[in-house]
Amino acid sequence: MKKLIRVDHPLLHHSLSFLRDANTATEVFQHHAAIVSQILILEATRDLAVRERDVITPLAQTKGQSVQENVVLVPVLRAGISMLLSARAFLPWAPVGFIGLERDEHTAIARAYYQKFPTRLENKRLIVLDPMLATGGSLIDTIVKLEAQGVHDTRAVCIVAAPEGIAAVQERFPHVSIYTAAIDSHLNEMKYIVPGLGDFGDRYFGT
Ligand code: PRP
Ligand code: URA
Repeated sequence: MKKLIRVDHPLLHHSLSFLRDANTATEVFQHHAAIVSQILILEATRDLAVRERDVITPLAQTKGQSVQENVVLVPVLRAGISMLLSARAFLPWAPVGFIGLERDEHTAIARAYYQKFPTRLENKRLIVLDPMLATGGSLIDTIVKLEAQGVHDTRAVCIVAAPEGIAAVQERFPHVSIYTAAIDSHLNEMKYIVPGLGDFGDRYFGT
């Protein structure tokens, strides 16, 4: 299986351009964040296991499908919240765990301030939602905590990823798949993604 998946779709790139644009208003940013998230989540769930089921339409009996996989969704607070509604629209039954991480403005090292995971994570397929993969520190901390609880087949869905963060995650967790709309150029001296889109959480929540 491919471990770094750059998702390509004209509607994805259309919406991503609004996210990148410094002049995009908060409500427009929210709208396009939802569209980008939906397209990425569709890709990250493309290979979910299904089982056949009987369906009776108003006209006849036919065969349908039900998703079989046990998925757990974990948005990384705060910015990951922006992707949660999109993911739950497709997977409304999936339990949701939360982890709160905030990067120090000077060191860019993430500090954990909140954690609430569902019980019985063994053998659940993990989908981590975090729009920005910069140094990789936040994603690595998240995966360490969840894999210690027994999840498997970890996938990360990130809207924009920096090469530095991708390399750090891949080195630590070669088995983790990363789905992203964009692999940007580099991190600046403040560890922000360039060209990136700025601080996702601030732009999404209007802070
Ligand atoms: C952002 C983003 C990621 C993290 C990525 O969160 O949402 O969680 O930075 O950076 P890293 O790869 O270098 O760890 P931030 O710390 O700004 O907090 P926020 O979501 O509350 O805005
Ligand atoms: N977090 C963000 O929101 N943006 C970046 O460019 C890096 C980390």
